[in-house]
Amino acid sequence: MTIFLRIAVLAFLVVGSGLAVAQNPPPAAAIASAHPLATSAGHGVLEAGGNAFDAAVAVSAALAVVEPYSSGLGGGGFWLLHRAEDNVEIMIDGRERAPLAATSQMYLDETGKLIDRASIDGPLAAAIPGLPAALAYLSEHYGRLSLAKTLAPAIGYANEGFEVDEPYRRQVTFRLPVLRRWPAASRVFLSNGKVPMLGERIKQPALAATLEALAAQGAAGFYQGSVAEALVDGVRAAGGIWRLEDLAQYQVVEREPVRGKYRGFNIISASPPSSGGVALLTMLNILAQEDLSTFSETTRAHFIIEAMRRAYRDRARYLGDPDFVDIPVEKLIHPYYGAGLRAGIRLDRVTPSAHLPGIGNQESGRHTTHFSIMDREGNWVAATLSINYPFGSGFMPPGTGVLLNDEMDDFAAAPGVPNVYGLIGNQANAIAPGKRPLSSMTPTFVEDERGVLVLGTPGGSRIITMVLLGILNHVEGRDLTHLVSQPRFHHQYFPDEVQYEPQAFDKAQIRRLQALGHRLTPYERRWGNMQALFWDRLRNRVEAASDPRGVGQAVVR
Ligand code: GLY
Repeated sequence: MTIFLRIAVLAFLVVGSGLAVAQNPPPAAAIASAHPLATSAGHGVLEAGGNAFDAAVAVSAALAVVEPYSSGLGGGGFWLLHRAEDNVEIMIDGRERAPLAATSQMYLDETGKLIDRASIDGPLAAAIPGLPAALAYLSEHYGRLSLAKTLAPAIGYANEGFEVDEPYRRQVTFRLPVLRRWPAASRVFLSNGKVPMLGERIKQPALAATLEALAAQGAAGFYQGSVAEALVDGVRAAGGIWRLEDLAQYQVVEREPVRGKYRGFNIISASPPSSGGVALLTMLNILAQEDLSTFSETTRAHFIIEAMRRAYRDRARYLGDPDFVDIPVEKLIHPYYGAGLRAGIRLDRVTPSAHLPGIGNQESGRHTTHFSIMDREGNWVAATLSINYPFGSGFMPPGTGVLLNDEMDDFAAAPGVPNVYGLIGNQANAIAPGKRPLSSMTPTFVEDERGVLVLGTPGGSRIITMVLLGILNHVEGRDLTHLVSQPRFHHQYFPDEVQYEPQAFDKAQIRRLQALGHRLTPYERRWGNMQALFWDRLRNRVEAASDPRGVGQAVVR
């Protein structure tokens, strides 16, 4: 486990007022990602004359190769961009879409029960990938280098291989049965059907060839022609429902991020079909009703937990793909709504989730990845990418090197009926052909005249609360190292429990929270892998930090 934090030295004098400082570009470029090879690929592209968006293509593609359990060409994601030249912020939605043959009943047996693991393992679990289209789109509309240049590091890693590390072994072990089931995936990710040894090299020549097709032809290299045919043939031969038409009509969508304010800080975050930004702003609007610094540690934690509970209730109730359902986003992120929710919170006891009007449990995937990038021109990117569970569906169509996601499990597979992970959703997130499953990914910018924070993390349904705790720490003046490493706690409405990492609460605090009525569930394993950057405009320096829970690397250059 490493944490690598470098602070760039003062590159030029700070100009007097906050506004004047804000107009200067950052004195250094910075990248924080979940893997040193991905960070290095991004810096290489910046040094070759690329901007932050070119670097984002390079880092996304490199992660697809060297962190195959978290994201990949067979998955999707959200890229939140800030472009310096016109001060524009936009979200690139490269989320997967349900195949056109998908139905709301597809994971149910004839009695209406969920078919065990059907939305998690194998080709039926895979939605139509968005990541390749998003990379081509980013490159064409925001980058300045060719895809051939920005994909070159990833192609190199795929051909030459990367070394197996502890996280890789851990995730392979977790998904061993499903990886063994599918020969193409097993040949690439296992060593004679077993978990590879530390230091063994994982080579992916078929993935290199698919990346080369993307580099040469753009999105058409993946969504049409021989790659598309191999993907569809492989999926269908193994019992899946993809058609060539699904791939041919995949479209990236540019969406307005959601925006709000917390204690003078501008918050810019992911909009639906991610629930992240909306839930984040709901929580911040509740918390903004009080001065947290006047609370005891226990009351502070209790109040934050109650805010989490309510935002996740709304997530379960209202959120889905905005192209399919009307979502009252304006209401949910309005400060008055937060004030109304605050009024329902008692500081001396919990509100059991069952007493809140709403629906049941929401939980989502356990793996995903995040990176943050800033260039010296003043562009920045927060990107959270996923194939959902570790190693996605475990299924790789032969000849493609593309490991497919199991993002279909992020839908409410059966409205009102819990799936194998206890997930109950409602109609807003029900499966429909071409629909995007609801996500929790929360790439976020936090900005005021003093600086810009770029952050995000993987972690399934806990992503949003991790980003919340990170923002609260930032607002309270704590540094980046603290922000990425602090012990975390989480509440998601159902199950009605506070999950917490070791050291998040001491014994006395646990007793006090229990006395307020909280059920506390300790987790032995720590969660998340936050990658954060801060451009401190007042000191004119750039900082970057990578979560010590992972093996990522943050480098300022
Ligand atoms: N698959 C994780 C998420 O999108 O929330």
